[in-house]
Amino acid sequence: MTIDRRSLIGGMAALALPLPAMARGRDTLGGIAAAKGIRFGSTMGHKNFYDPAYRALNARECALVVPETEMKWSATRPDARTFDFRAADRIVDWASANGLGVRGHTLLWHSERWMPDWIKTYDFGANPRTEAERLLADHVRTVAGRYAPRVDSFDVVNEAIDSDTGTLRETALSKPIGAQAVIDIAFHTARQAAPRAQLVYNDYMGWRQDEAVHRAAVLKLLEGMKARGTPVDALGVQSHLGSKYSDSPTGLGAIDERGWRDFLDAVTAMGLDLLVTEMDVHDNPLPGAIARRDAEVAAHTRAYLDLMLSYPQTKTVMCWGLSDRYSWLNGFRPRADGLTKRPCPFDAAFRPKPMRDAIAAAFAAAPPRA
Ligand code: XIL
Repeated sequence: MTIDRRSLIGGMAALALPLPAMARGRDTLGGIAAAKGIRFGSTMGHKNFYDPAYRALNARECALVVPETEMKWSATRPDARTFDFRAADRIVDWASANGLGVRGHTLLWHSERWMPDWIKTYDFGANPRTEAERLLADHVRTVAGRYAPRVDSFDVVNEAIDSDTGTLRETALSKPIGAQAVIDIAFHTARQAAPRAQLVYNDYMGWRQDEAVHRAAVLKLLEGMKARGTPVDALGVQSHLGSKYSDSPTGLGAIDERGWRDFLDAVTAMGLDLLVTEMDVHDNPLPGAIARRDAEVAAHTRAYLDLMLSYPQTKTVMCWGLSDRYSWLNGFRPRADGLTKRPCPFDAAFRPKPMRDAIAAAFAAAPPRA
């Protein structure tokens, strides 16, 4: 068995830890994906980054990491003038030291709920438009510029669309400028600050029947951006799989495969790449029994990835967490039976689950990327 540099570094990091150091390499998710020209990764952040065994799991399985919250405005911007990069730096430094790539998430989460509170009461002054543009461009330039040497793909704008109405959201930041202009400024500024990075619009439209309005709105947004010359390179498909309100009686949701393929065909016809950026499976509507639940999650994941990987434009696949222990979904709309959710490829003790095998099998079956 040949051991590459990353395996060696990761192996050394894991030696002192409870994971089998030599389990990494070609038989890891990252290794199986890499054999097909696909980059596999996951998110890390919050307390889980301080769990050495979890860091070792990520170093072993991933080629790529994305900070879960640490690069967002809520983490980097205590106020309008100051930046705090300590938490993001720690993750990026660790990734670099372990030979992992980093995705940047996100230069603008265009949603009032997720912007820092201070913006809601911020005084934009006598020329609110000028000040809003300055604040936005300064933010994007500073964050993208800081991480550009190590981040080669940014979610420039996240979730700009109200998925129920299909209209662009407005936030305290966008009100003086207009949502469309906010998006364009963010992308143009990112291109200047990180000219070699892949610039991504990231959103949670998906393949269920009840997501047609969202899909149509994302297409319209991307078409407008292309028509205006806004520099977008790819669509980030978040891939939080499962039913819309997590508790539908229809299992993981009724799928509209034709509608989803039409959507992906239209996106790729614009010359855009696709990324699976935040995959997990919200298992609320599934039965509590673990074997059955895990099997359904795995089957759903496999079908989904097979479809996504049938597009050669899909070259990056990321989970939103590797282990059920740390999934954000466990803090979000509890299951009716109160059981812990199992949305990730490894269980709470970091043992591989059927979902892990489904991801591996989908990579193994995927046609090689160019
Ligand atoms: C989530 C994090 O996982 C949580 O810890 C945080 O409290 C809220 O944000 N779509 C996104 C991610 O683009 O940034 C979100 O991450 C999950 C949904």
